[in-house]
Amino acid sequence: MNLPAVFLDRDGTIIEDRGHLATPDEVVFFPDTVAALRHLQASGLRLLIVTHQPGIATGRLSNAAVQRVNAHVVAELQRHGIAIDGVYCCPHQRTDQCRCIKPHPFFMERAAAEHALDLSHSFVVGDHPHDVAMADRAGAVGIYVRSGHGERHRAELPPDQLLVPGIREAADWILAHLEMVRQEAQNPGLLEDAAQVLRNGGLVAFPTETVYGLGAVAFDETAVARIFESKQRPRFDPLIVHVADRAMLEQVATDIPAAAHKLIDHFWPGPLTLVLPKTAAVPDLVTAGLPTVAVRMPRHPLALALIRRTALPLAAPSANPFGRTSPTDAGHVSESLRGKVDRVLDGGPATVGIESTIVSLAGKRPVLLRPGGLPLEEIVALIGPVDRSTAEGGHPVSAPGMLARHYAPHTPFHLISMHAPPPRSHARSRVGLLAFQTVNAPDRFAAVEILAPSGDLREAAAHLFGAMRRLDRMNLDMIWAEYVPDTGLGMAINDRLTRAATPA
Ligand code: TXA
Ligand code: MG
Repeated sequence: MNLPAVFLDRDGTIIEDRGHLATPDEVVFFPDTVAALRHLQASGLRLLIVTHQPGIATGRLSNAAVQRVNAHVVAELQRHGIAIDGVYCCPHQRTDQCRCIKPHPFFMERAAAEHALDLSHSFVVGDHPHDVAMADRAGAVGIYVRSGHGERHRAELPPDQLLVPGIREAADWILAHLEMVRQEAQNPGLLEDAAQVLRNGGLVAFPTETVYGLGAVAFDETAVARIFESKQRPRFDPLIVHVADRAMLEQVATDIPAAAHKLIDHFWPGPLTLVLPKTAAVPDLVTAGLPTVAVRMPRHPLALALIRRTALPLAAPSANPFGRTSPTDAGHVSESLRGKVDRVLDGGPATVGIESTIVSLAGKRPVLLRPGGLPLEEIVALIGPVDRSTAEGGHPVSAPGMLARHYAPHTPFHLISMHAPPPRSHARSRVGLLAFQTVNAPDRFAAVEILAPSGDLREAAAHLFGAMRRLDRMNLDMIWAEYVPDTGLGMAINDRLTRAATPA
């Protein structure tokens, strides 16, 4: 049986692109490379590198120097337990008209023959349009990363090319895609059945990279009404509409300003929701009567495949009862919405783990309505200052994520500061601790959850809701939670902690 593989571009994809690398000491791995490749390898994917080094043809680099750099990259990965099955290098420049330059799939085909690979179940990850074009010609899936030259050449990509921030998200996407293919093989028609349920007015819970969503066709008012009913969600509260491509966006939103296009180009698919003027096609029930619609394109392959298969945008709030902790795996959904949804699709644990960032572009100035899975800093870097909305900020609606009490466990939940003495508890009470990175004297607690031993806020976000649920199931007298640093994703994590701790 032929094996699936991931063909990795070298510069800009797994190591920093610093021009023509001549010596091993110029090699700088991206911080996420090792973990990402480890996950891919652990799932049975073979790993290969296909690199283009035109510096050899132009005389800037010797062939031997390039070989040494390649050997160093392989040896460094080997040191971390990652096996690279082959490194293929095109030394030519385009005017040489060689057969091995990307996007020719020459090296992919050679590797397939040499290593018994199945190209039709393989992937290419790269930061140049030629990388994804090569994938296409070989019958593989191309994933474009914005690292390296990715940002510069983005405009040259075919429409609706899958685009992710970097190697970490590329690996997450590939693993989720493989899992989807595995489930579909085990259970043929799985996706078509779910799409059919949706088209017939049913509810399908589906994975996204942020949290699981409870979806209905956005244009079907009766189906959307069932979402509110099963979530016991107040009617005034508008839903996010999920789309899979630009054409679908235009079915639901209109008068899309330049800043929105900029954000979409950069961050979709991904954890960013935009509030835009709505089209007449969107029912009032979806937007709670507002003239605007919240819309996003999720990154999870199963979400994208489901929306495409349904061929209609899906309105979906997080798949949990109103006000409670959001679901980050399929088990959470089944636990809390049992019997109230027609299908639950399992896409594994959510990799971002916290809901999308919501920005309104429907007014004169951009407004942050909810901090979330895309750090505010990245948005500001792209479009300039973004106002911070408070519930009383004069906005027409306060997002329920903005209601003071939200995301709440059933157990009393209190925030503690890393630097202040903790609240008093009775000597005999059982206290659980939700900590960020380390714990002093863990023995004082009946249970401890550490969000990110490494201190990585992305890891903390991914673990937040799962950890809250585990503590909540332990019949503790109270849970103490520690704030995390308030930068990047920390802002969204602290927001959720504060709302979970607000008294009912
Ligand atoms: O990550 C997410 O965004 C997840 C996944 C499933 O995509 N969805 C999610 O949906 O968190 P939900 O319904 O729990 O939160 C939607 C938020 C609400 O806080 C709502 O008030 C706000 O979006 N919203 C929706 N339409 C809006 C509008 N027209 N103006 C302002 N806020 C809006
Ligand atoms: Mg590159």
